[in-house]
Amino acid sequence: MISPYDISMPVPKAELHLHIEGTLEPELAFALAARNGVELPYADTDALREAYRFQDLQSFLNLYYELMAVLRTERDFEDLADAYLARAAAQGVRHVEIFFDPQAHIARGVGMDTVVEGLWRALGRSRETHGVSTRLIMCFLRDESAGSALATLDAAKPYLDRITGVGLDSAEVGHPPAKFREVYEAAAALGLRRVAHAGEEGPPEYITEALDVLGVERIDHGLRCVEDPALVERLVRERVPLTLCPLSNVRLRTVDVLAGHPLPAMLDAGLMCTVNSDDPAYFGGYAGDNFDAVRDVLGLGAERLRELARNSFLASFLEDEEELRARYLSEVEAYDFG
Ligand code: HPA
Ligand code: ZN
Repeated sequence: MISPYDISMPVPKAELHLHIEGTLEPELAFALAARNGVELPYADTDALREAYRFQDLQSFLNLYYELMAVLRTERDFEDLADAYLARAAAQGVRHVEIFFDPQAHIARGVGMDTVVEGLWRALGRSRETHGVSTRLIMCFLRDESAGSALATLDAAKPYLDRITGVGLDSAEVGHPPAKFREVYEAAAALGLRRVAHAGEEGPPEYITEALDVLGVERIDHGLRCVEDPALVERLVRERVPLTLCPLSNVRLRTVDVLAGHPLPAMLDAGLMCTVNSDDPAYFGGYAGDNFDAVRDVLGLGAERLRELARNSFLASFLEDEEELRARYLSEVEAYDFG
C-alpha cells in the first residue's frame, strides 16, 4: 500500500513553523498514554480523530494542551521528535526550526530539562538518522503573564547552546506582542533570534508591533497583513519572511476554503512567503502535503513552488552554517518538478 506520505512533493525545503507538540499523532498519543499509565478521555484513535473539528484557534488549543498529558519522560519527547523527523524527511524537509512550548510542560510538572534533553536526543543525531538539520525555538505562551515568560527564559539558561531563538504562540487576540517587550529584550541580549506569531487571528497591528516592539526577524502566519496595503508594502520592502500554514488556516477557519487562500496574491505582491505545516497531526498534513495542496488547489506552478522552497532556506537561521544553506539552495534550483 502506498502511504499518503510517499506521494507528497519532495522538493527540498525548510520547515520554519512547526510545533513539535502538534506532531503528536493519535496512534503515538495512545502508545505514550499506555506506556505512562495516563488515561485519555477517548475510546480509541478514531474517537480522538473525531474531536479534530475545530471552530477556531482556541478550540484547537484546548485539545492540543489536553493531549500533552501523555508526554512525561525524555524518551517521550525523543520518540515524538523522531517520528516527526522521519515523516518530514520523507516529504523533502531538509532543515527544520522546531517550536516547543515549555510552559505547557512545566505547568504539568515536566521540567525544562526533560523537554530539552529529550528533544535533543533526537535532534542531536537528526542529520545522521534523518538527513535533516535542525534548530530549536522556545515559544512563550502569550495567554500567560509576562512574568511567567521571564521565568521561562531564566529556566532555559542552562540550555542556550541548544536553543537558537524565541517565539510567541497560543491564544493571540487580547495578547498583543508589546506585552512581551521585556522578555524579548532579554532574549536578544542573550544572543537569541526572535520570531512571533502575529496576524493569524489577531489584527494587522500585531504584526507591526511584533516588528517594532519585539524586533522579530520573521512573522509566523502574518496572514492578516493583506488587510493593510501599507503594511504589505513595508513587509515587501524589508523582505520580512512570513511562515504561512495553509492547511492550518483552513482547519482553524482563518480562511473559509483553501481555494480562497490569499497565498497566490501574496506572492504576486512580492511578499517573502514560506509554506509550513504548523501542527500537522491536527491539521491534515505535513510540509509536503501543504506544498501539494497549494499546487493542486491554488494552481501554483513550478516557479512559484521553487520560490517558496528557496524562501524557506533564505529565511532559515543558518547564518552559522552558510555552506549548508548554499547546498540546500542549489538543490532547490536543480529540482525538476516534472
Ligand atoms: N497558533 C498559535 N499557537 C499555537 C499554534 C497556532 O497555530 N499551534 C500551537 N500553538
Ligand atoms: Zn503556529
